[in-house]
Amino acid sequence: MVTTSGPDDSAAASYDPMRQFAELAGDVRDPYPMFAGIRADTPVMEVQFGAGGGGRYRRDERAPRITSLFTVTSHALAQQVLTDSVRFSSAASAMTTGQVMGRTILGMDPPEHQRHRALVAKAFRARVLDQWSDTIIGATISELIDAFAGDGRADLIPQLTFPFPVRVIARILGLPEADWPRFLRLSTELIAVMRNWDRAVAAGRELRGYFAEIIADRRRHPRDDLVSQLIEADVDGHRLRDDEIYPFLLLILPAGAETTYRSSSNLLFGLLSDPSQLAAVQADRGLVPQAIEEALRWETPALTVVRTATQDVELGGVHIPPGGFVAVSLGAANRDPRRYAEPDAFDIFRADKQHISFGDGAHRCLGMHLARLEMRVLLNAVLDRLPGLRLDPAVDDVHIHGLIFRSPPNLPVLFDPA
Ligand code: HEM
Repeated sequence: MVTTSGPDDSAAASYDPMRQFAELAGDVRDPYPMFAGIRADTPVMEVQFGAGGGGRYRRDERAPRITSLFTVTSHALAQQVLTDSVRFSSAASAMTTGQVMGRTILGMDPPEHQRHRALVAKAFRARVLDQWSDTIIGATISELIDAFAGDGRADLIPQLTFPFPVRVIARILGLPEADWPRFLRLSTELIAVMRNWDRAVAAGRELRGYFAEIIADRRRHPRDDLVSQLIEADVDGHRLRDDEIYPFLLLILPAGAETTYRSSSNLLFGLLSDPSQLAAVQADRGLVPQAIEEALRWETPALTVVRTATQDVELGGVHIPPGGFVAVSLGAANRDPRRYAEPDAFDIFRADKQHISFGDGAHRCLGMHLARLEMRVLLNAVLDRLPGLRLDPAVDDVHIHGLIFRSPPNLPVLFDPA
């Protein structure tokens, strides 16, 4: 049995994770005209940061400083960078989140990356996901909707999309429910690494201690949860050591909770902002998968992934020196007019449903099937349980914002009470 030992959790009482997440997103309403302007000028632009670093985004001074970035805004070049792990290394991620989480697959290059990924990928097989669909994902969403379905109104961000993915992860990991508030607080602090470095480092340390207890427990008493699957995963006689499992467990918090909360929020925002498309999906649930893909393309939750050039590279006519940081703008690539007709429109009926929001190449999101499953279960539950769903007309200026991550801070809705 895992205990809840550790520091007193009274800090959670005064701590507002929603505010921290909203701030972390960066206070930018619409970066897409800026991306379009850069793309029209050059597909790869070198951006120099001044002493403040990071433009309007207020960062913690102790976080590692990047003084210049080559920003890639075209879809074709974004794909080229992400699928070329010889000329573009993923090691840069170790500079930031890696220092807090430890060595994760996100920061590894081949051949180490393939070996490690093959082991953790076993825990995300389709068969495993099927088991989680109703028992974990469906149950989590039902509980949250139960709490407000009788009210006829809700703010779908704090009441549904924000809490659900971290609860799903807590359940997938098999954490006791009494530990969830502490787990949510620590996860949020860990994710906000560029914002509050010391707090993130402390949260990473506390989570590692907490996971150590869980891993020790599952080694003694294997269960049907992700931690047990990671312990048991075996590829050609190789297994994960404990010091390889902790970083992975820490990684899936930002990778799996924050992204899915934001992508689900963007999906609901897109549909609620266009009642005719909402009605079409309501009438034909076969449209749910394409609504999900379009929401992911239109408003990707995480806008950028970073690589470093391993050698002199010519990209889009621009020279990048060895060690140069390359910021692949997934957001800009998803709105490249050379790839998508009317790229700024949210259109669930568009022919090209491919997008780059899960990345590409060797590091393509390991959790993408889980993310899609979570979004599908969530949207179907919202449509089933909240008839007459619409934006609350009394609240104006509901919008998506953010430059690093994007999603709406609030989504006030009305519906027919159950
Ligand atoms: C809509 C939701 C999600 C989005 C948009 C997303 C996006 C991404 C992207 C862009 C990458 C590639 C990063 C890079 O190339 O450097 C990535 C990798 C990753 N994602 Fe996701 N993700 C989502 C959900 C999830 C979920 C639910 C999980 C697991 C619980 C997850 C786990 C991972 C892991 C482990 C990696 C690293 C893969 C590797 O380095 O080989 N993600 N994700």
